[in-house]
Amino acid sequence: MKKVLFVSSEAVPFIKTGGLADVVGALPKYFDKEAYDVRVFLPKYQCMRQEIKDRMRYVTHFYMDYNFRSRYVGVLTCEESGVTFYFIDNEEYFSGPAPYTDMLWDIEKFGFFDKAVLSALPLIGFQPEIVHCHDWQTGLIPVFMKDSFRGGAFYRDMKSVMTIHNLKFQGTWDIPTIQRFSGLSDYYFTSDKLEMYKSASYLKGGLTYADKLTTVSYTYANEIKTPFFGEKLDGLMRARENDLWGIVNGIDYEIFDPANDDLIEKPFTVDTFRTDKKKNKAALQKQLGLAVDPKKFMVGIVSRLTDQKGFDLIQHVIEEILAEDVQLVVLGTGEYRYEEMFKHFAWRYPDRVSANICYSEELSHRIYASCDAFLMPSLFEPCGLSQLIALRYGTLPIVRETGGLKDTVEPYDEYRHTGTGFSFANYNAHEMLFTLQYAKRVFFEHKADWNKIVERAMRKDWSWERSARVYEELYESLG
Ligand code: ADP
Ligand code: GLC
Repeated sequence: MKKVLFVSSEAVPFIKTGGLADVVGALPKYFDKEAYDVRVFLPKYQCMRQEIKDRMRYVTHFYMDYNFRSRYVGVLTCEESGVTFYFIDNEEYFSGPAPYTDMLWDIEKFGFFDKAVLSALPLIGFQPEIVHCHDWQTGLIPVFMKDSFRGGAFYRDMKSVMTIHNLKFQGTWDIPTIQRFSGLSDYYFTSDKLEMYKSASYLKGGLTYADKLTTVSYTYANEIKTPFFGEKLDGLMRARENDLWGIVNGIDYEIFDPANDDLIEKPFTVDTFRTDKKKNKAALQKQLGLAVDPKKFMVGIVSRLTDQKGFDLIQHVIEEILAEDVQLVVLGTGEYRYEEMFKHFAWRYPDRVSANICYSEELSHRIYASCDAFLMPSLFEPCGLSQLIALRYGTLPIVRETGGLKDTVEPYDEYRHTGTGFSFANYNAHEMLFTLQYAKRVFFEHKADWNKIVERAMRKDWSWERSARVYEELYESLG
């Protein structure tokens, strides 16, 4: 039995701010249970829901030196869908209204978390062969494993994997500060290690020292070797390209299942969507105060409202998008200017636009189930899960051909009768608009063809099964 430890700052159902949580919450369930014992470490945030905290059981506690003080480290545990989760408890670091607050504080607390996770392992009696780290918050772990933790026999043969969910976030601060938190010697702060343009970065540490690297789609794995997508780490990505695997994410088919979804008005399948998707649409139109009319072309957006997701393209042509036959339903939070933009248009066109500036699991399911199309014109997209959810609910994605969007949405070809959505290549607002208008023409004028695309989209398999096998292969390659 191979033992694998996932370490992450978020995981469904415990705490979620984005796709990282979906991945870490789902993937461990899909490994071959006979061959792999996969467990997960998370922080215990004060902002987790009370019923979740109530499920946690105390395992142990100890004191650990960190940032020149001895600090309390509690370890708690609970089971979720057959997977063991552990939680690092420290009320000073993990209090506050959200997992991430200001950058300096985040850097200090996740440095603490990284050291605490490794320190806790002998005490909980779990000795993984592989420590699988996710994103910058866990970037110091591969470094510690080659440094202060290397000496003991317990850690000597452990291997590490670092997965990049988003290269833009790197956990970067000035060298003296990072040195203070990490306790690492000067040796580590050169440009071939943690140093980056006179600062230092946790993620760069992880990417330098992990035995294998992965990211969440093939296209993004290639893109990050170029300066535009490489976020100043493209050189390192090229240097390590033989260790870098692109493994496309899946979605949790138990949570996102149009045939068994308590959150939506009328569950449906590939055989019943023609009538039942309309019922969901009417219910959502009513719920959100839009004109109740099945003939509208309803476009959905469920997203963090940031530049990454291409909202400046939408901003540029929003008047043209909002033709009379279109309804736009937005769910998301993020940058003020995009929140205000959608609120403004919802005020101007109350029967056409619904702006929901909040986080809601329930509404997200209703949008995925009810809309005709799902708009995601990202500037860059390491993988993207929303388009996969949309595909499963027969809501055709309109995406830009970048990262995982390119790998998972096959553009409609009206001559060969293939494809599962619509896409455009350049980061250009009018290219996006023309693609949306083309989709709309197929929807209104070639309904039979549209429905065939929906069928193909719903039949595609984007469950975790396939990707979990590739991660297993990766683990086997580490010996
Ligand atoms: P990212 O991780 O870059 O934000 P992904 O597409 O990988 O993008 O994952 C986003 C996940 O978060 C999806 O499951 C999406 O449905 C969900 N999500 C984003 N914003 C909201 C929101 N406001 N309410 C509910 N779910 C949301
Ligand atoms: C990041 C990326 C997103 C990806 C997710 C899960 O948040 O922005 O594209 O799907 O991580 O890997």
